[in-house]
Amino acid sequence: MASSTRVLRIDVVTPFPGMFSALDESIPGRAQITGRLVLAMHNPRDETTDPHRTIDDAPYGGGGGMVLKAEPIFRVVERITQEHGRGEIILLSPQGEVLTQSRVEELARLDHWVLICGHYKGVDERVREHLVDREVSLGDYVLSGGELAAMVLIDAATRLLPGVVGNPATVASDSYSAGLLDHPHYTRPEVLRGWSVPPVLLSGDHRAIALWRRQQSLLRTLQRRRDLLNLVSLSEEERRFLDRHDRSSCDDESDGGARTMEVECGHTSDREPDADARSCNGGGVQPG
Ligand code: ADE
Repeated sequence: MASSTRVLRIDVVTPFPGMFSALDESIPGRAQITGRLVLAMHNPRDETTDPHRTIDDAPYGGGGGMVLKAEPIFRVVERITQEHGRGEIILLSPQGEVLTQSRVEELARLDHWVLICGHYKGVDERVREHLVDREVSLGDYVLSGGELAAMVLIDAATRLLPGVVGNPATVASDSYSAGLLDHPHYTRPEVLRGWSVPPVLLSGDHRAIALWRRQQSLLRTLQRRRDLLNLVSLSEEERRFLDRHDRSSCDDESDGGARTMEVECGHTSDREPDADARSCNGGGVQPG
């Protein structure tokens, strides 16, 4: 199918389908209206056969908490597969691979996912072993269930689908999409409570603006997430630029390195005084 008309179908297996109404708003909401995102909810309770519609049970071997039963989940997923083909089956759990922008990009290239939201103490291990293709975690903390993690994954992927975000340049400049944090953004008014927009952004000089934005992305990443700099490919000039700022911010912690940046980057607004100081660890910026 041509990428401009691509549709992402996501079947979500959850005992709490109502939580997903948040995705009827904003960009995922619009993507559903325009048909680029198809979201379908499946409650494993509908696949139970007992009068209490039981989806969880106590763990074998004892211990606290309840475990999601395997059979209702297998049944839901088998029904989805019969009706819509086999999508990528993803379990949301704190034990999965941690979600990153590149993993979102990889998943957004697929046409069909089945998201299984774990709950309670977890899911019967046989679901993980015999049904699931991959396991995704939002981060190193425990949520009440996989629903919020599934919503984050859906939102992050939806904005990458062709035609969903009006201007593709918006997505291309997002934090992480080039492996760096995003540059600062400003809108009207030009002066707010005495704080001015950096003059270069008003200059109309598109090359200078692009350079300033790239440098700001580099500096922000240096200050806040220097670990990311080891994963991106940078030009020699960019490496030298970062080394200069890394050293100058360490040499001159009295102003947090702000003065040096103002000269090179034409930045006149206030900056966090501790930002450069935080990045001083004595080491240079490693080549990627
Ligand atoms: N379920 C509970 N905690 C989670 C996490 N950190 N990521 C994904 N799913 C979860």
